[in-house]
Amino acid sequence: MTTLDIEGVSLHLAHPDELPVRWVGQEELMRQLLAAWMVIHDQDLPMNPRLLGKPGVGKTTLAYAAAKRMNRDVYILQATMDTRPEDLLVTPVIEAEKKLRYVASPLVSAMLSGGVAIIDEGNRMSEKSWASLAPLLDNRRYVESIVAGIKIKAHPDFRLVSTMNDDASTFELPEYIHSRLQPQIWIDFPERDEEYQILQENLPFAEERILTYVTDFLQRAHAADERYTVRDGINIGRFAIKLASLATDREHERRALETAVTEIVGEEALRYIQGGSI
Ligand SMILES: Nc1ncnc2c1ncn2[C@@H]1O[C@H](COP(=O)(O)OP(=O)(O)OP(=O)(O)O)[C@@H](O)[C@H]1O
Ligand SMILES: [Mg+2]
Repeated sequence: MTTLDIEGVSLHLAHPDELPVRWVGQEELMRQLLAAWMVIHDQDLPMNPRLLGKPGVGKTTLAYAAAKRMNRDVYILQATMDTRPEDLLVTPVIEAEKKLRYVASPLVSAMLSGGVAIIDEGNRMSEKSWASLAPLLDNRRYVESIVAGIKIKAHPDFRLVSTMNDDASTFELPEYIHSRLQPQIWIDFPERDEEYQILQENLPFAEERILTYVTDFLQRAHAADERYTVRDGINIGRFAIKLASLATDREHERRALETAVTEIVGEEALRYIQGGSI
C-alpha cells in the first residue's frame, strides 16, 4: 500500500480500480467528456462534469473509458445515502493500541496521485457530504479533512466526474453544488447499429441471431419510451445463452430468449419481441 506524508500525517492510499471495459460508439459523448477535462491555457481549469441518464445506459462505463483514454488511473467512489464527509476524504482506522492509521478515500487517492475520481451515483449522497467537496470543485481545488486535521491539495492532473441517474430514490442537490458540477452530459439510448455493437462487445461469444434479437427488442422498447437499457439487453442475451446451453429439448432451446426476457425485465416486456422465439 502506498503511503504519502501530508502536513506530517501519513496517509494510506487506495488502489486504483481496474475494469475490463471498452466504450463502443457514441463518440460525441466521449468527446464532450474529454473536452470538459482539458486544460487549454495556464489560467484555465478542468471542469467537473456530470453524466446523467437512466440506470444501465453506460454512465460508469463512459467515465471509466474516458479516463483510460487519457492513460490515467481511475478511482471509483460509490456514493450511497450513508456516505459521510469523512468517507469521501480520510477515515481513521485503529492499527494497534493507541495508534491510528489514516486511510485516504478513492477520491483523495486520485487527488494525490493525479488520477481520475468517479463519484458514482453522486445523487445518492447527501448535501452534507457534497458540501465538504465544495472547495475541491471550484478554483481552490483542495479539501480539508477535519478528522486528520490536514488540507489536501489536488495534483494538477486530477480530474473528477460524477454519474447520476434519474430514478426517484435520490437527493435533490442544492444550487451551489449543481453549479460546480458542470457540464451535464446526458446519455441517451444508442442507435440501432451502435446498440448491436455494444451487445457484441459485452457478449463476444453470442451468435449473431441472439444479438439481433436483443437489439430488435431494445430498439422497440426505446421507441415506446420504456426504461429497459443495454444492461438489460446484455443480461437477457447472457441468460438466454446459458438457458439454451442447458436445454434438454428443442422447445427449451426455442424459448430461451423469451424466458430470458420474461425473467429479466418481466412479462410485460414480451410485447416488444417479434415472433416470441429464437
Ligand atoms: N457505449 C458502450 N460501450 C460498451 N459497453 C457499454 C456501453 N454502454 C453500456 N455498456 C455496457 O452496459 C452495461 C451498463 O453500463 P454502466 O454500468 O456503465 O451503466 P450505468 O449508466 O452506470 O448504470 P447505473 O446507473 O445502474 O450505474 C455495462 O455492462 C457496460 O459495459
Ligand atoms: Mg453506474
